[in-house]
Amino acid sequence: MQLLNSFLKHHQTDPELVELIDTLMIACKEIALQLREGELSGVLGVTDNTNIQGETQKKLDVIANEVLKKVLLLNPLVRGIASEEEDDPVFSDHMDGRFLVTFDPLDGSSNIDINVSVGTIFSILEVPRDAGENSVELFLQNGCNQVAAGYVLYGPSAVLALTTGDGVNMFTLAHTGDFLLTHEDVTIPVSTGEFAINMSNYRFWEAPMRQYIDDLIAGSDGPREKNYNMRWIASMVAEVHRILTRGGLFTYPWDAREPAKPGKLRLMYEGNPMSMLIEQAGGLSSTCYSRIMEVEPDNIHQRVSIALGSREEVEALIKYHEKK
Ligand code: AHG
Ligand code: MN
Ligand code: MN
Repeated sequence: MQLLNSFLKHHQTDPELVELIDTLMIACKEIALQLREGELSGVLGVTDNTNIQGETQKKLDVIANEVLKKVLLLNPLVRGIASEEEDDPVFSDHMDGRFLVTFDPLDGSSNIDINVSVGTIFSILEVPRDAGENSVELFLQNGCNQVAAGYVLYGPSAVLALTTGDGVNMFTLAHTGDFLLTHEDVTIPVSTGEFAINMSNYRFWEAPMRQYIDDLIAGSDGPREKNYNMRWIASMVAEVHRILTRGGLFTYPWDAREPAKPGKLRLMYEGNPMSMLIEQAGGLSSTCYSRIMEVEPDNIHQRVSIALGSREEVEALIKYHEKK
């Protein structure tokens, strides 16, 4: 089985990008170890802090954020990082660093204390050519500008799903500490009978989303003339991993609980990197009205409505919104 590093080199990946991905994996291995210890090392439970997203930080949200920040800012290729758990981007001492990294250090963190899958999501951008001083504007690029994106799922095994713009590949963390190629050129089935949505928000959705879900639930008796099954892990990394593995649809749509916000999930840490993976594996990723990777960010913590997965199912969902 091939090592991550040699696989990337063999596929003529930009050597500086390979070096940055290696650095990211040093941090993710450390996070995997901390998670494995769990209760034994006192890392479970919450802190007294609330992040910029208005969410209570778990101890492991903070630990994972600190590990990634520390390791990345030491790499001379990194000019700065932006994290779901940081109020503002953090810049390194390397003004000529070529890359910017955005990340969700621990996704699905409500699962930590119940010992269910969580993950780290990352997105790599280049510093714009005409960049001046360090500022948040350097990061405000749309998802099409990503040079790489991926996640590490900390499940029964730790798995990296990675794209550098040339398909999606998966690597499993071996006991030796190496990520080994376990799934090459991942392709999402075009159709599916599986969907994932938090049904408890039903009454807050727009009419087209309610109608779409009503029709899925009607199964073979309804207009879709087919039975569907539902999953909800409350960890986007785990849901996207399932979709990359066997297809499906995942959506966290806009809802009326906080009408001013376009959705719950974050464009720069969740929406864009997951969209790049899904599109690179042959799926679709949309706000229900437009392509997520073409959304122009005006705020680093910007939210976005997300629907992604098997091509035919995402297209069907978009059609319901076109009727609106
Ligand atoms: P995070 O833990 O980074 O805040 O993200 C959690 C996200 C996402 O992973 C998941 O799909 C969703 O929030 C779960 O939301 P509900 O609490 O509505 O189930
Ligand atoms: Mn998240
Ligand atoms: Mn998170």
